[in-house]
Amino acid sequence: MRIAMLTGGGDCPGLNAVIRAVTRRGGAEYGWEVYGIRNGWRGLVEDDLKLLGPSAVSGILHQGGTIIGTSRTNPFKIEGDADRVMATVRGRGIDAVVAIGGEDTLGVANRLHAEFGLQVVGVPKTIDNDIGGTDYTFGFDTAVSVATEAVDRLHSTAESHNRVMVVEVMGRHTGWIAVMSGIAGGADAILIPEFPLTVEDVCDLVEQRAARGKHFSIVVVSEGTALTWRSGEGQTILSSDQLDAFGHVRLGGVGAVLAKEIERMTGFDARVTILGYTQRGGTPTAHDRVLATRYGVKAAEMVKEGRWGMMAALRGDAIVEVPLAEALVELKTVPLELYEIAQTFFG
Ligand code: F6P
Repeated sequence: MRIAMLTGGGDCPGLNAVIRAVTRRGGAEYGWEVYGIRNGWRGLVEDDLKLLGPSAVSGILHQGGTIIGTSRTNPFKIEGDADRVMATVRGRGIDAVVAIGGEDTLGVANRLHAEFGLQVVGVPKTIDNDIGGTDYTFGFDTAVSVATEAVDRLHSTAESHNRVMVVEVMGRHTGWIAVMSGIAGGADAILIPEFPLTVEDVCDLVEQRAARGKHFSIVVVSEGTALTWRSGEGQTILSSDQLDAFGHVRLGGVGAVLAKEIERMTGFDARVTILGYTQRGGTPTAHDRVLATRYGVKAAEMVKEGRWGMMAALRGDAIVEVPLAEALVELKTVPLELYEIAQTFFG
């Protein structure tokens, strides 16, 4: 048997742990030939693959990034690319593909399976934790740890200077990183796409704290939050108007606008910290290494059993499999109950 795996979309701590697990279980235990596809779907469009043996995956468990590269290539965007993918798969004699990615990469996997009969299994990856069908994606725990450490560190400087510190975290469509790091770090206000506070609500919270003698505040905002005002005005802040191959805008900058507004409306000194790519770079937490390893081993088992069109998923404590088509129906958003827990500590 010959299999190939790819990592697509934004990189994410734990990708190398999945690559290692698939290679070890598939190669060393099942005796398969295991290939790494370079740079996501682009590697299949361009027939760019490399053989992965035990030595290629040795010493990578703790490493961030992905040893096979990634890209946001969408083979359904350019006429003929999906056929090129299938030609590479056939030409190389690949029996199965393991696609490790988020909604976009797995969406392509699902279409190639449904429309071209690609024998594929999926592994859910994103620091944003917004893939349906699974309780958690790997990489999320690391991002939350990085963001929590930042919130912790910002407390002392905020207090020393009597400032409002706005922390902008990642989360394109959902506020998972913001709400979890906000709860863990004791944020005084959290703005997420699912339940955005108005700018005036945030200012009220800051002022309530000042009235109680707390002349500093920590506000966590998810990059995808549309700022709203009580007048009904609203604004999504972009860092560029260029779209990627999946039609996504580039977010970034909401924290700076919010900090300026807080300063203007309350008179408090406000500053912004954008955590950006620090949240997904570098070494994964122990939790993510273990979760990614379990996903990788499961993916190899799913290939062995021919579970095409399925995705490895975490449900409670168990790694199970769910149809890709089902997992991709809708994004997993932050539930109100969790946001309400965070809200208990606002102001
Ligand atoms: O992986 C998801 C994510 O981290 C989003 O939160 C963010 O908007 C996006 O990736 C940015 O990634 P890039 O700039 O690499 O496209």
